[in-house]
Amino acid sequence: MDHFLYRDGALHAEDVPVAEIAAAVGTPFYVYSTATLTRHFRLFDEALGFADHLVCYAMKSASNLAIIKVLANAGAGMDVVSGGEYLRAKAAGVPGDRIVFSGVGKTADEMRLALEGGIRQFNVESEPEMVVLDQVAQSLGMTAPITVRVNPDVDAKTHAKIATGKSENKFGIPISRAREVYAMAAKMPGLKVIGIDVHIGSQLTELAPFEAAYQKVAELTAQLRADGHEIKRLDLGGGLGIPYARSNEAPPLPTDYGALIERTVGHLGCEIEIEPGRLISGNAGIMVSKVIYVKSGEDRDFLILDGAMNDLIRPAMYDAWHDIVPVIEPAPGAEPAKYDIVGPVCESGDTFAKGRVMPAVGPDDLVAFRSAGAYGAVMSSEYNSRPLIPEVLVDGDQFAVIRPRPTYEEMIARDTLPKWLE
Ligand code: LLP
Repeated sequence: MDHFLYRDGALHAEDVPVAEIAAAVGTPFYVYSTATLTRHFRLFDEALGFADHLVCYAMKSASNLAIIKVLANAGAGMDVVSGGEYLRAKAAGVPGDRIVFSGVGKTADEMRLALEGGIRQFNVESEPEMVVLDQVAQSLGMTAPITVRVNPDVDAKTHAKIATGKSENKFGIPISRAREVYAMAAKMPGLKVIGIDVHIGSQLTELAPFEAAYQKVAELTAQLRADGHEIKRLDLGGGLGIPYARSNEAPPLPTDYGALIERTVGHLGCEIEIEPGRLISGNAGIMVSKVIYVKSGEDRDFLILDGAMNDLIRPAMYDAWHDIVPVIEPAPGAEPAKYDIVGPVCESGDTFAKGRVMPAVGPDDLVAFRSAGAYGAVMSSEYNSRPLIPEVLVDGDQFAVIRPRPTYEEMIARDTLPKWLE
């Protein structure tokens, strides 16, 4: 459920007509709903009510400062994967002891930054990373709290580009080698083992893969405890999927997911962390774009929008489906049309949808891409020298630009000419 609904025939973001935002900021743009963000965070928070827990929002999914602040105010911790994300979380006022650091290639500089600024834990992904973290922590006279991310070799049954829990993926250490790696960590004076981490992939629409992974984590917890390690925290990753097409059967809800967690690892008495991104931010954002032309091809019509693959890359990158709807609701009984929906970028991959049946629209009409809050703005680029599009946050009947659209001059001024070309 989200807060982008038609009222009196016009799509609203909470209480604000989307067309009003378009008139104020121009198109294309992203707009997020505060109520949806907090509602989705709370669903997870309540689902884990059976245990000590922290929901660490995966900032990579949508990392605007204002979004982080909304979620931090609601009580979320943050899952970061780079020095940049760590500093963003800090800039939004998130205390270090509510930030977990994930990622397969943390550098010594990033480790230092987080140790000095405060960190809840590092989710370590390899032995070489462990060696570096041990050195960095010792050089600062500190001990780094760690979990080791284990790769449970479970098929997440999602798009290959976003599955992370199979042995062929680059993530974590094979669960079969976990005891050896924990023994090695226990001997390092700069590290303090506190738990186990697992994350098997993104946009999971079934619970079975989570169940398989969490059962393996439960078994490992018992083994590691028997080996003398203190396992008091389990970070169970993110990955719960969202319904991208309204017509689809809805994926499991956070409550089902919470019940599964309780069933599989609840008896261990551990503090539980999860790292959801998409389920919190995905349906909390839409991308709004304007029709430039409707062009008749040989055997199809092309809807040419002012938004493009550089603004929302998910369809080009993962063949992802986004519902695309007109901002002004069509009159009842209006004939639908069929379009290939494309952007102005100069490659055929700049296609949002092929043969999409939707209400007929024309030049200057606004359309909205639903479920674009996660992995939308954060994955955008300036390809074709198209300035990054603005982000807007709505709260009730008020809205504010939370990232302005750079001018062409600002975009160009970031480049510098070497002396010999001046
Ligand atoms: N934790 C870790 C360690 C992750 O790698 C990820 C996502 C998450 C949590 C959050 O997963 P979520 O709850 O959002 O599924 N760009 C792709 C998705 C990439 C996901 C990367 N890792 C897309 O647009 O579908």
